[in-house]
Amino acid sequence: MSRRRACACGYRWLLLCLLICIVSTLLLMNDQLDVHVTNLGTPLVLPEEEADEVSAERAEPDSPPVVEEEPEPEAKAPSIQDEEELAPEQATEKPLLIPREVPAVKTLLDVYKELCHMGLTSPGSIRLAPTEVRDVVVKLYQPLVERQPPAPFHRERMVPLKPPDCKDPAWKHLLDGTRRSAPRAVVDVTTGMGGGPELDLLELRLWEINASLSHLKNPGVKDLYVISESAYGLRGDVKPLHFTRQRQRFKDFLPQVEHILLDNCSKYSREIEKLRQEKSTKRKKGGTMFSAEGIQRLCVLKTLIQRRPTVPDDALVIFSDLDEVPSAKAIQMLRVCQPRAAAKEGPWIQMHYPMPYNLRVGCKRKTKSQMHFQGVFATMGFLRRKKSLALRYNIRKNLIVPNAGIHLTYVGSRADVDYKLLHHGAARSWRPKPRPPANA
Ligand SMILES: *[C@@H]1O[C@H](CO)[C@@H](O)[C@H](O)[C@H]1NC(C)=O
Ligand SMILES: *[C@@H]1O[C@H](CO)[C@@H](O)[C@H](O)[C@H]1NC(C)=O
Repeated sequence: MSRRRACACGYRWLLLCLLICIVSTLLLMNDQLDVHVTNLGTPLVLPEEEADEVSAERAEPDSPPVVEEEPEPEAKAPSIQDEEELAPEQATEKPLLIPREVPAVKTLLDVYKELCHMGLTSPGSIRLAPTEVRDVVVKLYQPLVERQPPAPFHRERMVPLKPPDCKDPAWKHLLDGTRRSAPRAVVDVTTGMGGGPELDLLELRLWEINASLSHLKNPGVKDLYVISESAYGLRGDVKPLHFTRQRQRFKDFLPQVEHILLDNCSKYSREIEKLRQEKSTKRKKGGTMFSAEGIQRLCVLKTLIQRRPTVPDDALVIFSDLDEVPSAKAIQMLRVCQPRAAAKEGPWIQMHYPMPYNLRVGCKRKTKSQMHFQGVFATMGFLRRKKSLALRYNIRKNLIVPNAGIHLTYVGSRADVDYKLLHHGAARSWRPKPRPPANA
């Protein structure tokens, strides 16, 4: 990303792009998506390879949910084969060295050196490594993913939203054009709390949800944020409870947080135990990693229903992964405007604008097929009746929420991204490929 160029947007977006170009990496949101601009910071420039980067979005390793009701035909589990995994002899030739004490690293280079030292020289060898080795790898990353945010959040810079236009033509398939007598409360449900980028994404998300109330003098509703986490990653590796350790960062929201410790769910714990016992041959075939993800989501939804019987049935449930950040504007519309009778109580599919690497890549208009359709809005009543929600529903059979948010697949520092992929269900794309130095 060394070569730079000006934003390649049409004149009509010039103003917007200028804005984008001064908004900080972490907290910038794009207006075209009706996402609320909440923070200002360093100048930004679009990377030259924007088109390629965005098309890379389609090859991302996001896994399909296991609990989905109506899977998209193309939403198959990605093949977890990797060139390097096809040559396992190379990985198994030398025994892996497990350090007796995990060294406290300062830089990412130190992590990579340590990985080489341990004999982990390819993404495949890390994926197939035994549990005790993977635990060490996860631990190595801790100093890098538990860092403070690069810039503090400036609440005073939040720009309040205008009152919503319930007659907006882009919404006429969903809304009947009138306002509800009172705004709905929001119940935000996410899963998959990992390390660095997830905490940043959570912070972004909570303020974005809060901004959806900013046009109201006296909102009169109390939102609920359901945050779940586990002492294990999705591949069964031991990890810290990142949210618990950094809860002070979220102090404004804590009174409204429903914190769920996933390890309290017996079905989930059994699945993690199974993952930790898994031999590398099983891992190679894909193992059970996707079921941990599915069981986790079910556990969260069930616990929410159980613990919060007083949340009204008409509350708006937002259900998406942490890297799918809903837009304040879209939440505002669904809070305040009346849905058509035919729209029922959802599920309404979130259409996210893909910004795989950072918030700087959002200038281009995209076709519908380039959008990311995952995550849903529904009501609490709907969730209670169905007892579960899927992340993906059939986009031809269900209503779609336009400009519902953004999808930030690989956002964060390099260490953050490594860490996310390390835990991710389909972590075949774990990069880089550390190699021993030539003179070693
Ligand atoms: C969220 O926004 C509303 C209205 O803008 C405000 O009254 C409330 O204090 C905010 N909540 C938090 C947790 O900051
Ligand atoms: C987990 O379970 C324990 C004991 O059953 C309970 O006391 C605790 O509140 C639960 N914690 C969370 C965060 O769910």
